[in-house]
Amino acid sequence: MTDYAKGLEGVIAAETRMSYIDGQKGILEYVGIPIGELASKGTFEETVFLLWNQRLPNRDELAEFARNMHAHTGLPAGMTNRLLALPMQAHPMHVMRTMISALSMHDEDPNNIELDAVRDKAMKILSRAPTIIAYFDRYRRGLPLIDPKPDLDFAHNFLYMLNGAEPTEAMARAFEICMITHADHGLNNSTFTARVIISTLSDIYSALTGAIGSLRGPLHGGANEGVMRMLWEIPTVDDVEPYILGKLERKEKVMGFGHRVYKAHDPRAAELKKLAGQLARDTGNEELYEKSTRIEQVMERAVGSRGIYANVDFYSATTYHCIGLKLDLFTPMFVLARLAGWSGHILEQLADNRLFRPKAAYVGPHDQPYTPIEQR
Ligand code: ACO
Repeated sequence: MTDYAKGLEGVIAAETRMSYIDGQKGILEYVGIPIGELASKGTFEETVFLLWNQRLPNRDELAEFARNMHAHTGLPAGMTNRLLALPMQAHPMHVMRTMISALSMHDEDPNNIELDAVRDKAMKILSRAPTIIAYFDRYRRGLPLIDPKPDLDFAHNFLYMLNGAEPTEAMARAFEICMITHADHGLNNSTFTARVIISTLSDIYSALTGAIGSLRGPLHGGANEGVMRMLWEIPTVDDVEPYILGKLERKEKVMGFGHRVYKAHDPRAAELKKLAGQLARDTGNEELYEKSTRIEQVMERAVGSRGIYANVDFYSATTYHCIGLKLDLFTPMFVLARLAGWSGHILEQLADNRLFRPKAAYVGPHDQPYTPIEQR
């Protein structure tokens, strides 16, 4: 059989000007800027502008961009009614996938794939996504919906709509850093999905809907829920070592570790670790953080030499928990951030499109007789 790259590992299938990853050295840059720089100094609005324009905005440009983003946070009335008709027990990732898809039906020209039109749609979708998830969460908790406040930035507004009170600065900043660090990451599975779909010249709603479906999987964005379940399952810090070593012995994956690309420390994990530690202290969740750092130590000793380190999902779990988010909202938070990256990739794909159509190596039999049904 001909050689091929199972899972497309190592295959370069597209060009991007947005994020650069050196998995051996543990480097991630957005348009050349190290992620640590952006996470410690930038805002989410600025990061989205950077990804979509491949440069940082000046003050006026940023003000205009942010105004535009915050102006579209309201949902069309039909969307709110649809949301209030959803089963309350639905998983928020299924809600996100369905409602982002449903936004297409409130767009008079959903199939327009001219670049300016797609950019405009991307902005509206990104603005409305936090409202969708906050409304759904309050609806299922039996609480009144809280309308977005266009004078708040992305992070403050989302936490305000979710909790009914403006967040502390530390929480809003922690959430914003999660958004910045999750915004884009090369040709990961969900981004690839978005590019594959748009490469047929389909529409942005279809591409983003497919990407959300991809992100939901436990080997991709769903891992942060798995991390939290693991942290709850381990009774105390002293139980960490036997728990983790037992998992490794049974050849079970430890959620939040390992990466297809990074074989060194994931630079996003370092930023999130700092945040998680601070928030854990602020919110009385020290034990959770201690368990996390102990897990990291045990894993580093056991499998670090094989290039398996904590990934972005590991410390985002503690961070989200300390912010007060329920477990099933963790992966939807990844969606909020990654909509920026997916949309940027959709624009890049449309600007220089080539239909994705790889081949499969056929490994079945040949020249088989057609056996009549009564003889099978
Ligand atoms: N725990 C224990 N062992 C691991 C882990 C882990 N988290 N990750 C990889 N390994 C081991 C595998 O068991 C395998 O061992 P073997 O060679 O003895 O069979 C070896 O490392 C290679 O693992 P693969 O799964 O083949 O490597 P791949 O490149 O596909 O791994 C992946 C990437 C899927 C992310 C994997 O590390 C994993 O499943 N991690 C846990 C889930 C997770 O945290 N996903 C989030 C990724 S980040 C993101 O999507 C934002």
